[in-house]
Amino acid sequence: MECKPLPLDLRAFCLRLRDEMRSSANHSGSIEVTAQHLAGEAAADESLLRHIFTNLLSNALKYSDPGGTVEFSVVRRERDAIFEVQDRGIGIPEEDLDELFQTFRRGGNVGERPGTGLGLVIVKRCVELHGGAIGVRNREGGGTTVTVRLPLFTTRPGSRKKVRGTRSQNQRNKKKKSRRSATAKRTRS
Ligand SMILES: Nc1ncnc2c1ncn2[C@@H]1O[C@H](COP(=O)(O)OP(=O)(O)O)[C@@H](O)[C@H]1O
Ligand SMILES: [Mg+2]
Repeated sequence: MECKPLPLDLRAFCLRLRDEMRSSANHSGSIEVTAQHLAGEAAADESLLRHIFTNLLSNALKYSDPGGTVEFSVVRRERDAIFEVQDRGIGIPEEDLDELFQTFRRGGNVGERPGTGLGLVIVKRCVELHGGAIGVRNREGGGTTVTVRLPLFTTRPGSRKKVRGTRSQNQRNKKKKSRRSATAKRTRS
């Protein structure tokens, strides 16, 4: 697999995936999409994103009670798109959290729910190919939250200019600032 990013409308992508999951569904749950603050152009490898989010959404539905609601959100933060898939299902035992990304690992509480323990391995691989990061945590009040951060934005927030280099403007500003305060400290002492 490789990563070939092309312009992609993230909101439309999320809605499309929701509709596809709905029509292919062997579950009665529903997916609620929230897509906000996405100004600017995003470029993504749609096929990698599909592997990631069909797996995460089907986990969220599978490990929820029938008829449960899954929240699927995406928001822009600097160059990154931050996606979250949240459910109110069975959650993941604390002791299993660290090992879920290993092949064939399944939580101790899955019961009769079918599965292979390979989905998250594929998800992690796709996230890494896209230069991103993934985290899984238990949700307060029960259920699971999976956060995926992917560097998809090619323009600065509120401008049409392409982002330079690999660091975000914010990171460059921070660097400048810390250099400035280091100089200030030196001149003071
Ligand atoms: N949304 C979720 N809620 C509860 N447990 C989850 C969720 N997503 C993943 N898991 C746990 O992580 C394990 C690994 O997930 P995955 O690799 O997709 O395998 P599986 O084929 O079992 O779904 C699952 O068996 C389950 O124990
Ligand atoms: Mg799975």
